[in-house]
Order: sequence, then C-alpha cells, then structure tokens
Amino acid sequence: MKAAEKLEALENAIRIAGDKALSFRKQGLTIEVKGKNDFVTQVDREVETEIKSVISHLFPEDGFLGEESGISAGEEGIWVIDPIDGTTNYIQGMDYWCISVAYVNNDQIELGYIYAPERDEFFAARKGQGAWLNGRCLKMENEAEGQSIIGLGHSNRRPLSDVINLLTILDENNVDHRRFGAGALMLAHVASGLVHGYFEAHLNSWDALAGLLLVEEAGGCVPDFLANDGLINGNPVWVSTQRLWPVLNTYMEQFS
Ligand code: IPD
Ligand code: CA
Ligand code: CA
Ligand code: CA
Repeated sequence: MKAAEKLEALENAIRIAGDKALSFRKQGLTIEVKGKNDFVTQVDREVETEIKSVISHLFPEDGFLGEESGISAGEEGIWVIDPIDGTTNYIQGMDYWCISVAYVNNDQIELGYIYAPERDEFFAARKGQGAWLNGRCLKMENEAEGQSIIGLGHSNRRPLSDVINLLTILDENNVDHRRFGAGALMLAHVASGLVHGYFEAHLNSWDALAGLLLVEEAGGCVPDFLANDGLINGNPVWVSTQRLWPVLNTYMEQFS
C-alpha cells in the first residue's frame, strides 16, 4: 500500500470510530470516575482499541501513546491518541467532543487529525504542507482590534488560579473568553478561526499535539510543546493569532 493510501485508510478509520461513538452513546454508557471532573466510558476504551488496531496494521513499526492504554514503544515514530476529547460533553449529550490522533517522529509532530462527528468537522494537518477542515485549506488571519476571543481550559492537574490570573490580563486587554470543554477541538477551532487563541495551564500530549500542528500549519503562533519531555509529562499550551500573541506571552513570562 502506498503512503497516501495508508493515510486515507487511517482517516476512514477515525471517521468510522467517531460515528460509532455517536451511535453507541444512544445505546447507553458505562461511566467510571477517574478523578475530579474526569470520566471514562467503555466507548473511550473501544475507540482507542479500534484506532490502535488499524494503525498497527498500517504502520507495524510504530509505537503508541493513548490516554486510556498508556505507552507502548515502537521502532520508528509514535502515534498519540485521545479517543474522546471532551468526555464530559460526550456523556452529557453535548456536540463539542472529538477524536484526536497525532504522529510524532524525530521530535516533530508530523501529522494531526481531529474529528468532531456531531459537528461533521474533520481537521487534518501535515508538517510543512498545511492544515485543512473538511478539505478546505486553513489560513489564520488577525481578528479585528477589540474583537479577540480566547478559548480557555482547566483541569484538576493545575490550580484554578492559573486561569483566574490570566482572566485579569485578558480583561485589561479587552479580550473575551469562552470555555467549551474539549481542549483538542478548541485548538482546532483556533486554526479555523472560530476563536483566536487558546490557553490551558497543562495539557497532555494526547490533548494537544494534533491541535498544535493544525494551528502552526494554519499560520498561528505555538510554543514548543515537546520541550522538557512534553510528550510524556505534558506542558502548558498557549496558541493564538499574531495579534493576540503578545498578550498571552506577557502572562506566560510570569507563569510557573
Ligand atoms: C480534557 C478536555 C478538557 C481539558 C482537560 C482535558 P478529556 O480531556 O480536553 O477540555 O480542559 O485538560 O483533560 O479528559 O475530556 O479527554
Ligand atoms: Ca480524560
Ligand atoms: Ca483529552
Ligand atoms: Ca479523552
């Protein structure tokens, strides 16, 4: 199979897994609590298993890092999978959730896919080649002055003060904010221009990598997430348009 055919097969597998997740929700979910405001269902696990099995058939030499199944080493690159990002939204019947799949090789994010089945949005990015939403090439532009909106995220992995302190700076700079509850999809929506930036004090690599490549390839500003062992430990995430970048950087300079 040629490389392009393999990627097409992978994209199809992600779509099929997402559509199945949608239909499984109607049949009933088994919900387990992993931590404060952190849940997992049987569908999260099934989606991860299904995508891993397709990838191991297509790319047998690669390894995996999945939110629900952990890390398994390979001989070449590593596929980083969040089977459902925004599990709380998924459980609640909200449409704001997605599957996120990224490929890392030689310390670079080479591929990123984000699929939001209920919104019929399939995002794809390839290092050095571009970013697309449903086949349309994404190019980020600066928002009009005074019309900036930033997405925010928060989890039990960091103190709430990380967000509260940023809110003060955003308010001083006339920047509005939204929190939709799926970090990967919010990053994709920075690339597509729905919002103009995103901040979260800690994301894991399965939440962040595909979205970061989307933003970078769409022409936005991104940090080096893979620095300081970010693949394994995660890192803070801040991305934005050129216009919003100095505001976020002011905060990140003091951030620890
Ligand atoms: C979470 C979501 C949430 C973000 C958290 C993530 P999950 O992922 O992306 O928006 O704020 O940091 O852990 O648990 O729904 O896959
Ligand atoms: Ca989770
Ligand atoms: Ca996630
Ligand atoms: Ca998840």
